[in-house]
Amino acid sequence: MNDKSHLSNSYKNILISEIENSKALKVGLIQLNRPDVLNALNIDLMKEVVEALETFDKDDETGCMVLTGNAKAFAAGADIKEMADATAVEMLLRDQFARWDKIRKIKKPIIAAVSGFALGGGCELAMTCDMIIAAEGAKFGQPEINLGVMPGAGGTQRLTKAIGKARAMEMILTGKMFTAKDMFIAGLITKVVDNDLYLDEAIELAKDIASKPTVAVQLAKEAVLKAFDTTIEAGLEFERKNFYLLFATEDKFEGMKAFVEKRKAEWKGR
Ligand code: HXC
Repeated sequence: MNDKSHLSNSYKNILISEIENSKALKVGLIQLNRPDVLNALNIDLMKEVVEALETFDKDDETGCMVLTGNAKAFAAGADIKEMADATAVEMLLRDQFARWDKIRKIKKPIIAAVSGFALGGGCELAMTCDMIIAAEGAKFGQPEINLGVMPGAGGTQRLTKAIGKARAMEMILTGKMFTAKDMFIAGLITKVVDNDLYLDEAIELAKDIASKPTVAVQLAKEAVLKAFDTTIEAGLEFERKNFYLLFATEDKFEGMKAFVEKRKAEWKGR
């Protein structure tokens, strides 16, 4: 599937582009674009993010995606103005998290490139990605407690699994902001870089991943994510099945043959 024409200019809350990759498949870039409100995540924006991710995921020419904001904000959370008057029943009927759940089904890796604020739903959106590259000035937090609510898009689960109960409790119960360095030490972030390099570094990482054999990348991502919701025994079994499955790919034969012949592998992506 190479038709991305419907991605064109129809989006109002995000910008998308494709980054050529001399090494191999392209990188799909999605930039949150509501700068006036620090990229607050309203329903329309999330609809567009999910649609763009799904389109890149289905596209044969794309190997990896990068999700970013701008220098001041990755995203300062869900749009508070959109929720301010909402009742529980209205929130339930909006069912906005059904859309968030679709991000979990994306097969290709997604890298969050974070600068500025990643708060509330913004921190949760970064955590739905597979890796986070953060500018050293980035600030992470789950401030929902200060609004009389709590994280609702995975924060209590993903944060706790990533950084452990003690620090997750502190973040979620105090609503305080933490630096990129704090979050790197806690294990949430892949890498902290200079403020002006966060996007370049994320794109370089994405290009590198996009140059790897596609099926192996997808099955490996799937197996790592499995660790979050299964027992060690079931997880090991899952890993083993994906491992065996890769022996059915052309890339497995090419990769091992190339090693033996001391040459660079030429991946087919199947
Ligand atoms: C709507 C927001 C917003 C948000 C900022 N803005 N965050 N609008 N929803 N989450 C708007 C402000 O109203 C303001 O608009 C403009 O963006 C600039 O923000 P300022 O507050 O003037 O900027 P600053 O003084 O630099 O402070 C930055 C900030 C602060 C510390 C990040 O904006 C802030 O505390 N934002 C809210 C953070 C938060 O509570 N997030 C959690 C949301 S709940 P105007 O029109 O005045 O210029 C959540 C639940 C998740 O995420 C559930 C799942 C989706």
